[in-house]
Formats: sequence, structure tokens, C-alpha cells
Amino acid sequence: MDVKSLATLGFHHAKNHMTQSIYLSSGVNWTKPITFCGLVTHQCNLNCGFCFDRKDVDPSKEMSFEEWKRALLSIKDLVGGYFISFSGGEVMLMKWFPDLLRFCADNGIKGGVLTNGTAINDVTAPRLVGADPFEISLSIDGPTAVVHDRIRGRMRAFEMVTRAVRMFRQERDRQGRSFPIIIRCVINAINLKHLADMPRLVKEIGATAIVFQPVHEIAPNVMPEWQKFTKAPSSGLKDNFWIGSEQAELLESKVAELLALKAAGAPIMNTERDLELLSYHFSGEKPANMARTCTVALRNFFIQPNGDVQFCHDWPAIGNLRQQSAKEIWRGPHAEDLRRQSLHCEKQCLVNCSAQRTLLEKASMAIHLLKEG
Ligand SMILES: C[S@@+](CC[C@H](N)C(=O)[O-])C[C@H]1O[C@@H](n2cnc3c(N)ncnc32)[C@H](O)[C@@H]1O
Ligand code: SF4
Ligand code: SF4
Repeated sequence: MDVKSLATLGFHHAKNHMTQSIYLSSGVNWTKPITFCGLVTHQCNLNCGFCFDRKDVDPSKEMSFEEWKRALLSIKDLVGGYFISFSGGEVMLMKWFPDLLRFCADNGIKGGVLTNGTAINDVTAPRLVGADPFEISLSIDGPTAVVHDRIRGRMRAFEMVTRAVRMFRQERDRQGRSFPIIIRCVINAINLKHLADMPRLVKEIGATAIVFQPVHEIAPNVMPEWQKFTKAPSSGLKDNFWIGSEQAELLESKVAELLALKAAGAPIMNTERDLELLSYHFSGEKPANMARTCTVALRNFFIQPNGDVQFCHDWPAIGNLRQQSAKEIWRGPHAEDLRRQSLHCEKQCLVNCSAQRTLLEKASMAIHLLKEG
């Protein structure tokens, strides 16, 4: 990853922080979205027990390649160059996805991808790497096949994803590119005792760094196919994946291990604060010094496969990119109404993909990526 791209992103983030303050103090909206996430499809070939994407949406209602290109240019018209992370479902089930990434690179848009790695092979790895990605992320939920395959609901899932990381690394070096390969790991009751082994795996397979994220109870039940695969006696998400009070001490000790590994130079991208907040996430308690205002509505632009745009996954759509431009959506009265309401959202999420970070935390994450190469 190059210094110039990170510096440009840093500049946009600093500007967003400033316009957020103006909005909060005066109500004048000069904000532009800064965090873009594009969910390309709900379709997927795995059955991870905790997955929040329930795949029950009709694929014929999802945006086509042409519609995505129009949507991406419409955003560019609102904000100029930007970074967008593509996810799903499983993006690599869309045969045209590498071409969408290439389209981004050709139009001054930095595109990243999050994949489960199962569809990466001799053909798709060179195509994705050749599309000039800004980053490639892969989900790995355990340091061994026993742990990862159980969580992911499919035999050989670990073998496929670790092979995918190695192929990306090899292909990246062969094509002389410099994007980071990031591992994403969902912390839950099944992998808790193995977490401290993850940084070692990251190095072993040639990835750049790891980001941990706690499991969220978005649906009350696990995926039915996962329950069949594992023969788990309960269908409850909490029964299978939540870290309850009986494991609170183990969680504390694992957080301490991860903090020590990070301090010793392990490639863990989470901030110290992210890791310290984990026990609050699972216990449901709120730390005393927590900010009461949620600012996702001043910075996030999450696009669903059908073109709906949201600030965060828990709030209704602010518009739809099939029918409106990004400018009309962001500046429209409907978005403004939801924006004002969401500032006082009762949920007060702690550690999630919408998490609020200080500029210093963002800078430290960027420096980490530069150091790890
Ligand atoms: C929905 S997946 C889509 C991308 C791709 N299929 C994958 O698994 O990497 C996006 C990310 O969300 C994570 N995820 C899914 N359900 C979650 C939950 N209930 N809580 C926290 N993270 C979750 C996945 O592990 C993955 O890293
Ligand atoms: S791979 Fe797993 S986490 Fe990703 S979308 Fe599919 S079921 Fe969900
Ligand atoms: S507190 Fe959580 S649910 Fe509420 S708007 Fe913020 S991110 Fe969304």
C-alpha cells in the first residue's frame, strides 16, 4: 500500500471529522460520506452459523454489473475519489466481480474485497490481483481446520481459504503489486480459546495483518444448514456463539494475551481500545466514558445488493441508487430526517463495522499497514 493513497484517504477523513463537528454544533450539513461498503449479492456457498446475511432475498432483485457501474460513478460525482469495500454474501460468486474492481481502478476509485476464499483458484486469483485492488480481505475464524470448518459449516473451508491467501500473496508478488492482505476473524464462543494463535497463522500463510470483530446477535437463530452440519442441539445464536458470563474470565485473559502480542509487534490492526471494549460488548454493560452521540449518519454509505443505501444495517434505507443519484440520497430530506433521529440511537454500539474511531486511531492503523507492507 502506498503512502500517497493513504495520505489522500487521511485527508478525506480529517475533513469529514471537521464537517461532523460543524453539523453537530450548528446543524449545517457540509458532510459527505467517507466509509463506503458495497454488498454485491446475498448469495453464498457457505453456511457460517452466525451469519447475519440470511440469503433469503431474491437474486433477480440484485443490481447488475451495469447498474453497479452507474452507482459507483454517481458516488464519485458526490465525493470525488473514494475507497469502497465490496462484500456480500460471497462476491466471488458473481463472475463479473473482478471486472467491477477493474472498473473502479480505471475510474480513480479504490476498491477492496472481502471474500470467504472458496472460489479463489488459478484463474480468479490472477484476475482479482490484476484488477489493482486497494486491499483483499479474507475471513478466517480459527487457526485450524477443526475450528474454522465448524464455524463456517463446511468441510475443507480452512484448506480453501488458507490456499487462497497463499495464492494472493504469490500473485501479488509476481505482478509486483503492494496491496495488503487482511484476515478478518469473528470472535465467538467456539474460537475464543484459540485467538492468540491467529497472529502466528497470519504470518505463516503470508497475510499482512488481522482484524478481530466480535460476533453480533443480529438474528436470534443460527443458520438452519449450520445446525444440520454440526448437529448442535440448540438453534439459538446465543447458545452456540455468544461468550457468556461463564467464559468472562477466559475472555479477559485472551484480551490480555492479544494486547501483549500487539505490544510485542504482532500484526493485529485493532486498536487497544477495540480489544478492551470486547468484554463490554459481550456483557452488555456500557463503559462510563462512552460517547452518547452516534455519527454513522454523518459518514457511512452502505449499499445493499438491491441498491438501497443505509447509514448502518440497523436503520432503514435513506434512498436507492437505482432510482436516485448519490447526491439526491445524501442531501435529501428523508436522509436528513433519519440522520437527526439516529444521532440519539439507543443502541450505542461499541465494537462493530460502524465503530467510531479517532483520527489518531485511524492514523495508527494506516501506519501499521505501511510497516507490514
Ligand atoms: C457477511 S460476510 C460476507 C463476506 C464473505 N462471504 C466472508 O465471509 O468473508 C462479511 C463479514 O461479516 C462477518 N460476519 C457474519 N456474520 C456476523 C455476525 N453475526 N457478527 C459479526 N460478524 C459477522 C463474516 O465473518 C465476514 O467477515
Ligand atoms: S461466507 Fe459465511 S459469513 Fe460470508 S456471507 Fe457466506 S455464510 Fe455469511
Ligand atoms: S448506535 Fe449502532 S445501531 Fe444505532 S445508529 Fe449507531 S451504529 Fe447504528
